[in-house]
Amino acid sequence: MGLELPINWDVMAGIQAWIQDATQHPAIHYPDAACLSTLSPTGYPEGRLVLVRSVTPTGLVFFTNHRSHKAQSLQHHPKAGLTFYWEVLGRQIRVTGDIEVVTMAESDEYFASRPRISQLGAWASQQSQVLDNRETLMKAVDEWDQSFQGEVPRPPHWGGFRLLPIQVEFWQEGDYRLHDRFVYQQVNGKWHGNRRYP
Ligand SMILES: Cc1cc2nc3c(=O)[nH]c(=O)nc-3n(C[C@H](O)[C@H](O)[C@H](O)COP(=O)(O)O)c2cc1C
Repeated sequence: MGLELPINWDVMAGIQAWIQDATQHPAIHYPDAACLSTLSPTGYPEGRLVLVRSVTPTGLVFFTNHRSHKAQSLQHHPKAGLTFYWEVLGRQIRVTGDIEVVTMAESDEYFASRPRISQLGAWASQQSQVLDNRETLMKAVDEWDQSFQGEVPRPPHWGGFRLLPIQVEFWQEGDYRLHDRFVYQQVNGKWHGNRRYP
């Protein structure tokens, strides 16, 4: 008895449901972690983990430094992939789509919810640039701490990107490598799916 997903499933609700299942599993520490795949300006594929902080009917949002290497890749080539994998659940989700920058209000709201030390880190980190040693980073955190007496504002170069999916695949591990795969594509705003050979 394998997995049976409806052909016209609510795909974004499906992603939320699988992340929710992962959130409830005690062995999963980063249920919203996904590998963000981008194409560098020189044409090389790159991947790194990010935390997907919200999934709405429109898209999946993650936050980063907009001067980072990944942000430069996304500005050059605003298409990306997000791949979730939860080993203990035997599940993978692959999302492919177009990238947009989230509104300043959305970035402000998420930034305000972060711990102060993480907020200071966003000011102190010149993400993806060469760092001579850890002390330089910690000194910068201290300096920013002293310069903000009250709330820490969001740095202008820090914020969110939204992946607007065009294709989503749900993969459920099966016995003897006879896995279940369902691939959904968006056509004129509606999702259409089919089962694929594993
Ligand atoms: C579990 C995990 C979660 C991470 N989440 C984020 C994130 O949400 N945003 C981010 O910018 N980097 C995150 N990172 C760090 C990135 O993987 C990466 O090292 C960093 O962003 C620099 O990438 P870049 O040089 O390609 O821009 C995370 C790393 C791990 C291991």
